[in-house]
Amino acid sequence: MDDKKYVNAQITDKLDESSLPVLDGTLGPAAVDIQTLYSRHGLLAYDPGFRSTASCKSSITFVDGDKGVLLYRGYPIEELAEHSDFVEVAYLLMHGELPTPAQRHEFDAAIGMHNLLHEQIMTFFRGFRRDAHPMAVMVGVVGALSAFYHDVMDIRNPEDRLRAAIRLIAKMPMIAAASFTYSAGRPQRYPNNKYDYSSNLLQMMFGAPNQEYAVDPVLARALDCILILHADHEQNASTSTVRLAASSGANPFACIAAGIASLWGPAHGGANEAVLKMLMEIGSVENIPKAIARAKDKNDSFRLMGFGHRIYKNFDPRSRVIQQQAKNVLTHLGKNDPLLDIAMRLEEIALKDEYFIERKLYPNVDFYSGILLRAMGFPMNMFTAVFAVARTAGWVSHWLELQHESHGIDRPRQLYVGSTLRHYPGERQPKLVRK
Ligand code: CMC
Repeated sequence: MDDKKYVNAQITDKLDESSLPVLDGTLGPAAVDIQTLYSRHGLLAYDPGFRSTASCKSSITFVDGDKGVLLYRGYPIEELAEHSDFVEVAYLLMHGELPTPAQRHEFDAAIGMHNLLHEQIMTFFRGFRRDAHPMAVMVGVVGALSAFYHDVMDIRNPEDRLRAAIRLIAKMPMIAAASFTYSAGRPQRYPNNKYDYSSNLLQMMFGAPNQEYAVDPVLARALDCILILHADHEQNASTSTVRLAASSGANPFACIAAGIASLWGPAHGGANEAVLKMLMEIGSVENIPKAIARAKDKNDSFRLMGFGHRIYKNFDPRSRVIQQQAKNVLTHLGKNDPLLDIAMRLEEIALKDEYFIERKLYPNVDFYSGILLRAMGFPMNMFTAVFAVARTAGWVSHWLELQHESHGIDRPRQLYVGSTLRHYPGERQPKLVRK
């Protein structure tokens, strides 16, 4: 036995003075309610990375990582990807139920009313270097929206909250498209309410103001599918960031900007861009064994991007849908992307390798989404921006949900391991050193 101290943590049916309640959800593991751990026992719970921590109660999305299950408000992701569309999914996430035809009509009309950007917002884009990464632009522009709608919204008012949520979903395609067209030096097209949500994103990204743009329905459907698959994923890093920022009562546009910043990292939404860079670096099927060896080498920081997931330890149900979509779109366009061949072979080899089997590392949603977006013509630095457009539906749904929570500001504690009390030497004089 080492010299660590241990406490007995028993789960029991009996109630005694030191008992902590166990809370059952509707699906998934139960949770020990440790809210009184400190006040009653003077102890903190230590869980860096939140591997065993339920940070909130939520009824939006359920993930069973061992079985490869993802449900939005109870509906399996595969069924939504096949039968629904992104706007309906956004409504479902926000409101908890699928819309009636009248509700859908009203929701579409609200998105159509709010999908333009204030013309002054367009001047923000010009402040960025033309080679700025679209995610950097999106963090800035979405944050800037808080300056436009701060005084006219009261987050205690449910109608104001709903309007803010709809504004965010509605404006995101134009913000994403403009962050690309600005860097390309092209004038920005406006949304046109004759198009559906995904078609609008396509025409604003790829159309020019001086000519008609014919939306390809196969590409619009594939993009809609990508948006559905990325719309929410329970308490991931960016959603938790939004919830933490929102717990202080911060402006919703500022909270979503914080979520975009968190999403950008290569371990999270930035992985789709990183996957494509990795596939290009591998370059040919012959180089795959070298890449696998590098991924397994503990002295090499290289990881197989698009592989592994904090929650999925079986398969990511989104990756199967997206792989199929990638194949459909490439066939439809008559394209043959050698990167798809490398990706499929890489997957095949990795899934037979003991290292990946032991650690339960499977392709995640990002493994094929980059190939699909590239086939559709999206430049690599726009991949995560498309993810951000989709995830906005999830972020605003969590933002709306937490307005009903009563625990106040989120304030994690820490296990302090720094210096104990010491005193500043009285004789010491701080000196300002000028060079
Ligand atoms: N390639 C090689 N080894 C890996 C990989 C990988 N992609 N992912 C995890 N491992 C190894 C890791 O080195 C560790 O090995 P060991 O036990 O010998 O130290 C073990 O597997 C467990 O890894 P971990 O870092 O503790 O796992 P995690 O749950 O903290 O990380 C992850 C999950 C997604 C950050 C990680 O798998 C990763 O970095 N994957 C590549 C990036 C990626 O594709 N991210 C997208 C995630 S899905 C979209 C999203 O949610 O945004």
